[in-house]
Amino acid sequence: MGHALLEVTGLTTVFDGPGGPVTAVDGVNLSVDRGGVLAVVGESGCGKTVLSLSMLGLVAPPGRVTAGRVVLSGTDILALPESGRRAIRGRRATMIFQEPMTALNPVLTIGEQVAEPLRVHAGASRREALDAAEAMLARVGLPEPRRRMLGYPHELSGGQRQRVMIAMALMLSPELLIADEPTTALDVTVQGQILELMLDLAREAGTAILLVTHNLGVVAQTADAVVVMYSGRVVENAPVAAFFAGPAHPYSQGLLASLPQVGDLGRRLTPIPGTVPSLSALPTGCHFHPRCPRAFEPCSRQTPPLFDLPGGRQARCWLHAS
Ligand SMILES: Nc1ncnc2c1ncn2[C@@H]1O[C@H](COP(=O)(O)OP(=O)(O)O)[C@@H](O)[C@H]1O
Ligand SMILES: [Mg+2]
Repeated sequence: MGHALLEVTGLTTVFDGPGGPVTAVDGVNLSVDRGGVLAVVGESGCGKTVLSLSMLGLVAPPGRVTAGRVVLSGTDILALPESGRRAIRGRRATMIFQEPMTALNPVLTIGEQVAEPLRVHAGASRREALDAAEAMLARVGLPEPRRRMLGYPHELSGGQRQRVMIAMALMLSPELLIADEPTTALDVTVQGQILELMLDLAREAGTAILLVTHNLGVVAQTADAVVVMYSGRVVENAPVAAFFAGPAHPYSQGLLASLPQVGDLGRRLTPIPGTVPSLSALPTGCHFHPRCPRAFEPCSRQTPPLFDLPGGRQARCWLHAS
């Protein structure tokens, strides 16, 4: 525990709605090791994006963080004033989103945008910043970087825009990169390349990654540890080898069973029957119990705690009560 870069404890985020507040992130604990890769997985709507935004103080009304601490190398990010959080986000903990177009400014040139972190957060001169931006754009594989610097985001393909986002995010070698489904919006033919590029550059810079993904193949290949979310709660937290050797939570088991096996090309996936519940109508007890093939008596009555299991794992399931 002593070497954790990021420690998140009890993080809770609600959205105020017409029927009262609903809880999208519910007491999440997780940690990321210095230089490590933590994967966060779970079906769409489980709270992965709200969690990512909450960690950096980016939740906008009607959402608000109501509890929790997010400590990055000793700095409690959420206790800082907005100016302090902005400084952290510019330099120490950056983020890449699923849809790069929404994160790029349509009226600024590519060069100005990639150079900005250096000017604002590292005090570089305009010339120095533009030179460094060009070098970084070359490293992320943007063709003709000098010419592209003068262009605008809409002139780039989706993959090129995500390369630009990677350049901006890793320009100042941050301690942490939060990458929220960074390749999901891209053509499948470039997804692998771009993910690999991001991981390689982060490794070189010593940057740890919190990687939100729904691709368990990517998790197996890249992560050190995995956190599984369901309806805003962490339901399993495990080192990656242990997770793939045999996940402890029935929800995780369902996610893994829905993965196509090697040699099974063409066979249909078997998704977990049912859907993620709406936040305004969450089941009592374990949120997963209505879909769980192994639900038994306590599951609908009482929320299971995260039980500590051998091998540094945790699972929020009454099957592990002993
Ligand atoms: N601005 C918002 N207002 C109300 N509810 C929201 C808002 N953004 C997200 N939510 C809700 O929070 C839950 C988690 O969403 P999200 O974090 O985007 O899931 P994921 O990224 O895992 O697909 C969902 O039920 C979603 O409807
Ligand atoms: Mg999301």
